[in-house]
Amino acid sequence: MRVDVLTLFPGLFDGFIKDALIKRACQKGLLNLHIWHLRSWARSRHQQVDDYQFGGGPGMVLKPEPLFQAVDDLLQNRDAKPVTVYFAPSGELLDQDLLEELKDIDQFIFICGRYKGVDQRVIDEKVDRLVSIGDYVLSGGELPAMVMLEGLTRLIPGVINDLDSARSDSFQASLLEGPLYTRPEEFMDLKVPEVLLSGNHKSIADWRKEKAMEVTRRNRPDLWKRYIEADKTIKRDKNKEG
Ligand code: ADE
Repeated sequence: MRVDVLTLFPGLFDGFIKDALIKRACQKGLLNLHIWHLRSWARSRHQQVDDYQFGGGPGMVLKPEPLFQAVDDLLQNRDAKPVTVYFAPSGELLDQDLLEELKDIDQFIFICGRYKGVDQRVIDEKVDRLVSIGDYVLSGGELPAMVMLEGLTRLIPGVINDLDSARSDSFQASLLEGPLYTRPEEFMDLKVPEVLLSGNHKSIADWRKEKAMEVTRRNRPDLWKRYIEADKTIKRDKNKEG
């Protein structure tokens, strides 16, 4: 997967790409990542990339010219057309389903906004997907870009050693992940649940499912409702078959 990121703050990505998952994916040749400084495409003498908004109001808006030029330059000499993503709270919500939908796309261009946002003409002409990572306002698209990049990279075959681990994570089966334990068995009088030490795979699986249901019901009633609906449909279909 190739990802080109356009940002006014390339330094924000330094730690993120130099460690852990992203570094490993790049080293294995599974992720081809380029971080570009948007200011390199500024035409004016002062390298201005933002301006006042027409109609008045507080906050600056990213100008269209540098972004149009940057995207056009990044589209040169491609064998496939990349999907361009712009991050904003007004976008569609990023969730595991969206990551699954996009995971087989080979090339992305991520545009990170700053200030009030970008000129609408950039969105109309150059952006394929407008993505939000949640109902809150951040200062720019860099963190959302990192969130989406990590979410997608985890799904590239070969990046995570144990793909099963990625698949069984929260959301893959519409239930959140329940509690996890490691050694020691007892720590400050706090014991690991007996069933996990039993070696009985069926009891362990049942316990985990029970806990996953408990956590989902308590923390995310919306997901719980979805799970119950899906479960009902599966049972109804099975009954019809049988
Ligand atoms: N830019 C600012 N806030 C954002 C959010 N919640 N999601 C995506 N991009 C953003």
